[in-house]
Amino acid sequence: MWDKTQLKETIQTQMGDYKLIIASNRQPYSHIKKGSEIICQRQPGGLVTALTPVMETVNGTWIGTGTSPYDKEVVDSDNKIQLPPDNPSFSLKRIFLSKQEMDGFYYGYSNEGMWPLSHIAYERPTFTAEDWEYYQKVNKRYAEAILEEVGKEKAFVWIQDFHLMLVAKYLRESDNPNIITSLFWHIPWPNPEVFGICPQKNELLEGLLAHDLLGFQVKSHCDNFFQSVESSLESRIDREQNVVTHTKRETIVKPFPISIDFEQISKEAESKDIEERMEQLREEYNLKGKKVIFGIDRIDYTKGIPDKLRAIDRFIEKRPEYREKFVFIQLGQVSRIQVPRYKALNDEINSLVVDINWKHSQGSWAPIVFTSEYVQYQDILALYRLADICIVSSLHDGMNLVAKEYVATRSDLDGVLLLSQFTGAARELSDAIIINPYDPESFAGAIAQGLAMLPEEKEKRMKKMRDIVENNNIYRWAGRVLSKLLNLEFDEE
Ligand code: G6P
Repeated sequence: MWDKTQLKETIQTQMGDYKLIIASNRQPYSHIKKGSEIICQRQPGGLVTALTPVMETVNGTWIGTGTSPYDKEVVDSDNKIQLPPDNPSFSLKRIFLSKQEMDGFYYGYSNEGMWPLSHIAYERPTFTAEDWEYYQKVNKRYAEAILEEVGKEKAFVWIQDFHLMLVAKYLRESDNPNIITSLFWHIPWPNPEVFGICPQKNELLEGLLAHDLLGFQVKSHCDNFFQSVESSLESRIDREQNVVTHTKRETIVKPFPISIDFEQISKEAESKDIEERMEQLREEYNLKGKKVIFGIDRIDYTKGIPDKLRAIDRFIEKRPEYREKFVFIQLGQVSRIQVPRYKALNDEINSLVVDINWKHSQGSWAPIVFTSEYVQYQDILALYRLADICIVSSLHDGMNLVAKEYVATRSDLDGVLLLSQFTGAARELSDAIIINPYDPESFAGAIAQGLAMLPEEKEKRMKKMRDIVENNNIYRWAGRVLSKLLNLEFDEE
């Protein structure tokens, strides 16, 4: 079983004098002001959840965008800070973007263009020449920051996600030949017809093919990528060897399903602190004697949050005997709020919650508790443990790590996972109750099925899912990517 120690040893012995640099748009921690104090807050999203434990283990440099004014106050003259605060084990080098860069690169090209392009959620992507200019400019700034960090040394640069598709191309233009690069694509890759919508498709593909290794979550995303390359660029594709050759450069393209630090989460969730927190939350939310249904998502139209709410509504209509017998707690982490579609989604969710609660409330009971306020990680763990059912209802999702986190917290083998068939996680976690979030009827039925499931059945399913996540943990994921890249003998394939 892969663990922290094995990953650390692999890196120390096999990477030799190579530096490890991770680059992503989202930084793992941000500094904000609370009262008169500057505090350090862990950031939301699957990318941060997965990569933070890797970085804490391997002692490299993470380059990411600073987002709060206080992020600038705490860094040194190289824009660096050692993290995490309680046990510094890696460097974070922050890039600070102007308002215009943030608008064009992050809100515009990345989140109004690439994000809807890559997810089947029927949201039209928008590409403008101005956003594209900023996208290129910020990708160049990332390449400069990486080169500054590498100097004349050797480095393995591990780039993350759809924000930074051009960085490797700019790195290749430098005079340092000792840089190995890989990009991990955390979200789905669309089919070639959809990808063909993008006016800059060739430039983006060429940017990606400047890498030595490209990782996707599942095989079908790799297949879509191969087809996109085939229909746009002169290239040779060897599907058996998983290699694309373009302008004499070879890029390996493979699936590496991302994961979580199973052991750490499992252990932390069992702690006394979390148990105490569970007790307090039972009081706070008035959960005694009630079933708990739980969801936590970034507030994003790909996550199917309105569909989840409508399914709860339909469930109460179909099974009125459950009135006052359960509470559905949904946490929403606000993100990308400058994009109009996200603002509209926030409004849609708030009004659905009000309507459904009004329709079904009885005395002091209302079925839905929704909050988009920041909730501490320990409270999230406590809520996972309190949840008789956890619902992941994404309309499309590269992987979805909430599903894996829930499973990791349930060493009691209790609890039922309802998981959308459109997540990467559904390929691994087939013992969840698999749902179609587009169908409120069967979705409501699945909620009833989950609440009525017998303990033996729950145990059997949870045990299988836990074994899978425990085995395919985040250290194995990182180990597989690194070993593939470094062509090490212990390649597991
Ligand atoms: C997804 C993406 C990440 C992103 C995260 C949070 O997991 O794959 O790249 O960081 O969402 O989104 P945000 O825009 O808030 O960073």
